[in-house]
Amino acid sequence: MKIDVLTIFPEFFEQVFDFGIIRRAKLAGIVEINVHDIRSYAVDKHKMVDDRPFGGGDGMVLKPEPIFAAIENLTGTSDRDAYPSGTRVVMLTPQGKRFGQRIAAELADDIEHIVLICGRYEGVDERVNEALVTDEISIGDYVLSGGEPAAVVVVDSIVRLLPEALGSDTSAENDSFSDGLLDCPHYTRPAEFRGMNVPDVLLSGNHAEIEKWRFRKALEKTRAIRPDLIKDENGECEQ
Ligand code: 6GU
Repeated sequence: MKIDVLTIFPEFFEQVFDFGIIRRAKLAGIVEINVHDIRSYAVDKHKMVDDRPFGGGDGMVLKPEPIFAAIENLTGTSDRDAYPSGTRVVMLTPQGKRFGQRIAAELADDIEHIVLICGRYEGVDERVNEALVTDEISIGDYVLSGGEPAAVVVVDSIVRLLPEALGSDTSAENDSFSDGLLDCPHYTRPAEFRGMNVPDVLLSGNHAEIEKWRFRKALEKTRAIRPDLIKDENGECEQ
């Protein structure tokens, strides 16, 4: 998979993709991640990337020309209907569709090339959305100053789902949300720590009992913290 990130703050990403699973996936050739400075595509002599909004109002709006030039460079076209198959151009904005594990899995499964455009909170010229963007995504109902932190979230959650990205091929299946539940509690040595004991069943070596315990704990935790995730026999959520 190839991921391109378009941003006016490329330094923000200097180290963030160089740790853990993302770093390993890059080194193994599973994913290639490139960060591009929108300013390097600016055409005028002042390298302007934003301008005042038509109609008045606060803040600055990202100009269309540098983003169109960047997308043409990365996909070969500025007509979203003509992108190579398996290509998505994603605008990160609080106005987007809510991102979650389902969208992460769809992108990880079906897509070879993702271009993430980090919007500014104040706005991006709407012609970028009209002509270039295939998906508008928000990572939740709160306001970030820009799409940069959201790009990190989206990249991490997709890359860890790519085949071979994780060391053990079962760990993604055991993640919170992969079965619609929160994860169960985990313990490691020592078996007793400051008077707190690891549950006996985990020390028992009885794998069937351990699996049952883990499922029960995941269900209890989900009921308590995120009852909205629990579906009844008709697939409807309890809350
Ligand atoms: Cl993707 N961008 C911004 N600016 N704010 C957000 C967001 C994205 N997702 C949630 N809040």
